[in-house]
Amino acid sequence: MCGIVGYVGNEACEKILVNALKKLEYRGYDSAGIAVFEGDRIKTVKAKGKIDEGLAVKLGEVGELTAVSGIGHTRWATHGEPSDINSHPIGNGRVSIVHNGIIENYRKIKEYLISKGYGFESETDTETVAKLLDYNYAGNPIDAVISTVSEIEGAYALGIMFRDFKNKIFAVRKESPLIVGVGKGEMFIASDVTAILEHTKEYYLLEENEIAEISKDGVVFYDLHKNEIEKELQIADWDIAAAEKGGFKHFMLKEIFEQPDSLKKTILPRIKNGLVDFSECGLTDEKLKNYKHIYLVGCGSAMHAGTVGKYLIEGLARTPVIVDIASEFRYRSPLLTAEDLVVVISQSGETADTKAALHLANDTGCDTLAIVNVVGSTIARDAKMVMYTLAGPEISVCSTKAYMVQTAFMYLLAFKVAFVRGRIDEAECKALVSELLEIPEKVKRCTESLEQYQYVASNLMSAQSLLYIGRGLDYALSMEGSLKLKEISYIHSESYAAGELKHGTISLIEEGMPVIAVATQTELFAKMQSNIKEVKSRGAKVCMVCSEGTVIEEGVVDYPVFIPKTRDLLMPLVAVVPLQLIAYYTAVLRDCDVDHPKNLAKSVTVE
Ligand code: G6P
Repeated sequence: MCGIVGYVGNEACEKILVNALKKLEYRGYDSAGIAVFEGDRIKTVKAKGKIDEGLAVKLGEVGELTAVSGIGHTRWATHGEPSDINSHPIGNGRVSIVHNGIIENYRKIKEYLISKGYGFESETDTETVAKLLDYNYAGNPIDAVISTVSEIEGAYALGIMFRDFKNKIFAVRKESPLIVGVGKGEMFIASDVTAILEHTKEYYLLEENEIAEISKDGVVFYDLHKNEIEKELQIADWDIAAAEKGGFKHFMLKEIFEQPDSLKKTILPRIKNGLVDFSECGLTDEKLKNYKHIYLVGCGSAMHAGTVGKYLIEGLARTPVIVDIASEFRYRSPLLTAEDLVVVISQSGETADTKAALHLANDTGCDTLAIVNVVGSTIARDAKMVMYTLAGPEISVCSTKAYMVQTAFMYLLAFKVAFVRGRIDEAECKALVSELLEIPEKVKRCTESLEQYQYVASNLMSAQSLLYIGRGLDYALSMEGSLKLKEISYIHSESYAAGELKHGTISLIEEGMPVIAVATQTELFAKMQSNIKEVKSRGAKVCMVCSEGTVIEEGVVDYPVFIPKTRDLLMPLVAVVPLQLIAYYTAVLRDCDVDHPKNLAKSVTVE
């Protein structure tokens, strides 16, 4: 949800800023811009659209810039439509800023500043911050930042330049993430570390309401009382290759292919003597034995991983599980008690609603566990316990490998809870774990022949609308399949519990409408086949995802997709791969921008 960067050093910074912004485009791509110290002025170049289509073209027209420091922004529009004028950086010549977040009280501040003679050009909340900084500036940037953040309400990560302080940048954050990167004779700011990995792996995490004053030789941190503070240097363990496409046409495809490796990295450290071990985070057997309820909370694909988790944990461990969409959970007064465990699931660790859900749970006094991919992210730090999914950076807006490892974590949790509660014995738990360890190989096999997915995609590409159906775990999984397809190919799709079709949705079926049936659960297969016949006899074209060896009645399925078999319980981890690839190839055939679907951003740091 908007990406911000900044550079101070000895090199001409235009390309450095633009390249860093490209790494953050997954956070939004409605517009992009940079502001640099050019001579005694702050020079700003910004344009609507993705970087290559807007900013890069304008920069080409402007000619080479020699500046060695500046700030940059890639936008996901909240206040004001995507346009040149609403793009960041925003300022008035004396102050220039880039902003990630939302300023809730901007109207009040704007009215006040107008009464003081300020004019406004854009429709953004950000412009009020830029003008307020200017208003509060009386020669000392830190004082101006302190006064300004004491007046603004909401979420912000800000990169700030003051014309009077050439080749310095200032930064401050609340709720939205920001890091300060440390190079040799050069310093950076960025919304996340992937933006600067090609320059340095060393960085500081800016905490809530900390201010950074950055020059090429280093950084000084202040609190809001202007006291200097010491911070610990962090070292990123992601390497630059992980944030590059590595020969794949899209990040999404690369990330699908990385899934076997991500699974191994996530699962293996949590297995000791053939059993699940969560000692790394203090989630003891005693605790797991006693929780009254387990809540699984997240947004988007993370919530879908939780939905699979509910089926697993309730099925195996007979423990009540509530799955919640974080934006609902935070406002619906959930019946939490101190005897519950709230598990928040998040790739980025910065999703605003998931963060709020976590804070609510923390305040209620229950145990909270974060399952997060980005090390050091806010959710990881604010939860009482954290375990990391070790998928490496996920760049494509559409989640694939992060969903895969979040779901794998649901298996670990289900096995563990079932074992400590005596619902499965040691031998059964070890058998489940050992079959889980075979999943990476099976996931890999799913990516070995891509033609079957391409063929299905070629039959979906002209559809107006389609349905995903399944029962049990297949239903939980079909939600993710449907989301993948609609978010990147823009074809409307819904997932439905197959048994529920007759209660309304079947009226949508018409001649030629595609239906994707996920049918991997042996016990439910006959019922699925009946549901498929019902849609087929009304004209649907059916693609069925099922395991190798499945015997399908003749004439029931138009496009079968066979995948490696594992025990039914584990099938979602394998069956998700064809769903991802069908969505991918459909989007490619429709000529969609796979990694940057319209209107979306990967890290949703605003409500
Ligand atoms: C956005 C992304 C999704 C993601 C969701 C939750 O909508 O496009 O892919 O599942 O946010 O993100 P999180 O970082 O909390 O997992």
